[in-house]
Amino acid sequence: MPPESRSDLKKLPQHIAIIMDGNGRWAKTQGFPRVEGHRRGSENVDEIVTACREIGIRYLTLYAFSMENWARPKDEITALMALLKEFLLSKREKLIKNEIRLLSIGDVERLPADVLNVLRETENMTSNFDKMHLVLALSYSSRDEIVRAVHAILKEKERGVEG
Ligand code: FPP
Repeated sequence: MPPESRSDLKKLPQHIAIIMDGNGRWAKTQGFPRVEGHRRGSENVDEIVTACREIGIRYLTLYAFSMENWARPKDEITALMALLKEFLLSKREKLIKNEIRLLSIGDVERLPADVLNVLRETENMTSNFDKMHLVLALSYSSRDEIVRAVHAILKEKERGVEG
């Protein structure tokens, strides 16, 4: 039966947000290095996106890398950035095939230039799609998001747009 006609899938949320957490703890329980936990975590992302697309979730936000995460050891950050870049490069075709728009939130300008380039390219390549939105929260902080939202509201007020 196609997913859209299953009655148990009719009352799904429009938006699901996931905090990518526990990679390190999982790796420890398995006796693997932390980076292996991150690698498995990023592999799971593909499966989650595919399932969400299939059942018709319109927005999936993944809180992947917080502002605080910049304080982690340099090697771990390098590995995470490499995983992010690899994810974007290797999943592009699949995003396009499934008409999924990739977006980002957070202070992404802090990302290494090569990762930011691949992110912007992927955003541009998928910008016409709206079947599903995959939002990556990168270098995010809740405080920062609130400040950005307030600035945006003030800017609109300045332009005379009432909300
Ligand atoms: C939390 O685990 C996870 C992270 C800090 C990073 C998650 C990001 C990636 C795997 C990069 C690739 C991103 C995508 C979107 C494919 P943790 O280390 O805080 O685990 P712990 O809480 O068990 O210590």
